[in-house]
Amino acid sequence: MTPNPPPNVIPTPTLLPTLLSPLLPTLLPNFSLRTLNTFGIEAIADLYLPLRSVADLQSLHAALLADPALARLPRLILGGGSNLVLTGDFHGLVLHSCSSGIELVAQDDERTLVRAAAGVGWHELVSWTLQRELGGLENLSLIPGTVGAAPIQNIGAYGVEMERHFHALTAFDLERGILFTLDRAACRFGYRDSIFKHDWRDRAVIVDVTFTLPRRWQPDLRYAELATALAHIAAPTMQQVSAAVIAIRQRKLPDPAVIGNAGSFFKNPLVSRVQRDALLVQHPALISHDQPDGSAKLAAGWLIDQCGWKGRALGPAGVYHKQALVLVNLGGARGADVLQLARAIQADVLQRFGVQLEPEPTFI
Ligand code: FAD
Ligand code: EPU
Repeated sequence: MTPNPPPNVIPTPTLLPTLLSPLLPTLLPNFSLRTLNTFGIEAIADLYLPLRSVADLQSLHAALLADPALARLPRLILGGGSNLVLTGDFHGLVLHSCSSGIELVAQDDERTLVRAAAGVGWHELVSWTLQRELGGLENLSLIPGTVGAAPIQNIGAYGVEMERHFHALTAFDLERGILFTLDRAACRFGYRDSIFKHDWRDRAVIVDVTFTLPRRWQPDLRYAELATALAHIAAPTMQQVSAAVIAIRQRKLPDPAVIGNAGSFFKNPLVSRVQRDALLVQHPALISHDQPDGSAKLAAGWLIDQCGWKGRALGPAGVYHKQALVLVNLGGARGADVLQLARAIQADVLQRFGVQLEPEPTFI
């Protein structure tokens, strides 16, 4: 029989489940994360806890108060694992967002409010709204991951960012053990950015998100490729816009079920218009878009492509042959392989264009 550890000894993570079982009966030790990240990288988490309800979060908070060793462990809040790079085993506690449920909460002449639990699949929510003729999210069709992660980087695609239809969210503060709500202004959304990447990182677990969808829907076809795809239809429906977005995505982006990836690996860099204009002199084909704040956004995929990386590989990590901004797992890649490739790309782009690429996914 294993003796109880003396009180001044911090229990090792593998002992924690036994000690905490009354408070956290679903806590699991030594849990493989390979199928829980779309890169398909193998990594073991010391502890894994599924979160299905607010009651689960309250039990977790009680356990954190009761066990300082558990409270000191690093935490990873996990959704669909589609924006993560696991760089090694995770010696901490994985909190997996597994809640479900979508509901229509209010409707007036102007708008409909729809609330979804954090664990709902993002595309499941988009499909749910479109089935009920509630437009707004169609340009964001087929983005992998969960509803709860969507505000973290303010997901965006084909001319629309999530913040446009965001109303409010509920989150659980792991330090204080309370629920709180944040409106759009409080979330400080930016391009692939929000307050959750800064002040609230690893402390606030998003529980549900409410979206506001207009009653008088208009298609948003400002993204040139989408407009071209729908040019043959005079007045496309929201379902037709969604289908066109899905077709473009399936043509350009690898399906994580077939080839491991995390979508765009780098953000499109924002530079001053002066720097952009100087680059244009040397590289007249440079792709950029003026931003409302006076900066210019460069197409990182084009920069990487120009450096000759498209379709190339470094060991088991590679650059997707149809989209240079997407790094892929060619089979058995570890986090270190992906990092090595990412660093080589960053160095080439910096040397050739003087532009520093910043990764989009979270590194764990
Ligand atoms: P995870 O990868 O599990 O987590 C991402 C971050 O969110 C982590 O920091 C995590 O701790 C945090 N987090 C997750 N859930 C919660 C929660 N409930 N509370 C608090 N924090 C939480 N993104 C775009 O913006 N636009 C695209 O067009 C796009 N296309 C993609 C295409 C492919 C093929 C892939 C693989 C990815 C793509 N992405 C895109 C990136 C990704 O889909 C999004 O970032 C998505 O929102 C991540 O959701 P997730 O549930 O998988 O989050
Ligand atoms: N391009 C190239 N070579 C490449 C890749 C792209 O020349 O290998 C050029 C394209 O021809 C195009 C431009 O770069 O003129 C932009 O490419 P694309 O339209 O494919 O979009 P992106 O800028 O690479 C961004 C988002 C995607 C989002 C799409 C559609 C970022 C970091 N990425 O990609 O989001 O789906 O626009 O809106 O902002 C993600 O965040 O994971 C993601 C996939």
